[in-house]
Amino acid sequence: MRKTIIITGGAGFIGSHVVRLFVTKYPDYRIINLDALTYAGNLENLRDLEQSPNYIFRKANILNTGELEDIFSTYQPDGVIHLAAESHVDRSILSPLDFVYTNVIGTVNLLNAAKKHWLQTSSPGGGKWENTRFHHVSTDEVFGALGDTGFFSEDTKYDPHSPYSASKAASDHFVRSYHDTYGLPVVLTNCSNNYGPNHFPEKLIPLFINNVINQKPLPVYGDGLYTRDWLYVKDHAVAIDTVFHRGKNSETYNIGGFNEWKNIDLVKLLCRLMDEKLGRSKGESEQLITYVKDRPGHDRRYAIDASKINKELGWKPSVTFEEGLSLTIDWYMENGEWLKHVTSGEYMKYYQEQYGD
Ligand code: NAD
Ligand code: DAU
Repeated sequence: MRKTIIITGGAGFIGSHVVRLFVTKYPDYRIINLDALTYAGNLENLRDLEQSPNYIFRKANILNTGELEDIFSTYQPDGVIHLAAESHVDRSILSPLDFVYTNVIGTVNLLNAAKKHWLQTSSPGGGKWENTRFHHVSTDEVFGALGDTGFFSEDTKYDPHSPYSASKAASDHFVRSYHDTYGLPVVLTNCSNNYGPNHFPEKLIPLFINNVINQKPLPVYGDGLYTRDWLYVKDHAVAIDTVFHRGKNSETYNIGGFNEWKNIDLVKLLCRLMDEKLGRSKGESEQLITYVKDRPGHDRRYAIDASKINKELGWKPSVTFEEGLSLTIDWYMENGEWLKHVTSGEYMKYYQEQYGD
């Protein structure tokens, strides 16, 4: 069946993989990539799709209700997959309001546009929201921090600690409220830490790959014993496809890799793999590890119980962490131009202010 889907944040890290998957897997769908192209959005991530007949890029800001109105009435989408966000915890500590604007107000603007458009276009006599769906892409950070044991399930109480996770939690609540109040068909996914190609080099894995390549310090926050659950980004894109098409209305699905790593162990693995790939002597890159002051409010441990999406929809990760990390390092080593472009502007200023290098 032909569908038109708006994917917001499609020029960013995860969004670019979701856009590519949908454009290539569903040639009869029309995919509208709606992205403001902030520092984190880069159309180089999607250069291979530019000539695809079922792909349209629209530069627009979810804070601009006029632009949303225009895009909804022009393309008449059946579905929205919402990834556009400010996504970096450290930035949220420095500028919380940017996160309130995009993640909270932007999400509500998008919900309003979808609600208004789908009410206007529902067929006479048909169900109000026939064949429509708003898929909100969220994070495991809304659940707060775990101790040494246990997992986040879909029923875990929200307990966000950073301005980023607070803004994502608020957006999740708004999405559910639009279902409960107006009947908008929604699904939500809360995912753990992603890694892979196109990841902006301010986040742990791409920052450290870039710094190892350039023999710069690797700033490990605090004692380095913080734990994250890592998932290869292409597996996340497949999970989003699965839930968008087959998830139950108004339900939430947790997505994760069953793949916990303490930051320092991950960094040492990364250094070992990169020494081999760069032909450097064993242990050379580990010398770059530098313990720096901790992130305020740093969540100790995240771990997702992804058994619901596995049991109900049959999704599971397809690559091991070692395979995914190796593919990721190869991608960054082969895409020096991409790295040069994204690190040449505003981000480098921020990085230099933080670490003086
Ligand atoms: P990203 O920062 O790489 O990309 C965000 C994209 O959104 C960029 O292309 C940017 O230009 C766009 N954008 C930002 N503000 C916008 C605005 N006001 N209007 C329109 N577009 C705007 O983010 P990401 O890491 O790809 O994350 C995508 C989504 O997935 C986010 O909602 C994030 O909370 C969620 N998420 C991320 C992870 C992760 O590990 N990266 C894990 C779970 C959930
Ligand atoms: O859990 C999902 C979340 O994962 C997403 O919702 C966020 O959008 C995404 O940015 C990510 O958040 P984290 O804060 O976990 O990712 P980050 O890569 O910034 O940090 C991962 C861990 O590494 C965290 O414990 C902080 C630490 N760290 C990070 C950086 C950038 C360092 O020790 N040094 C660093 O320089």
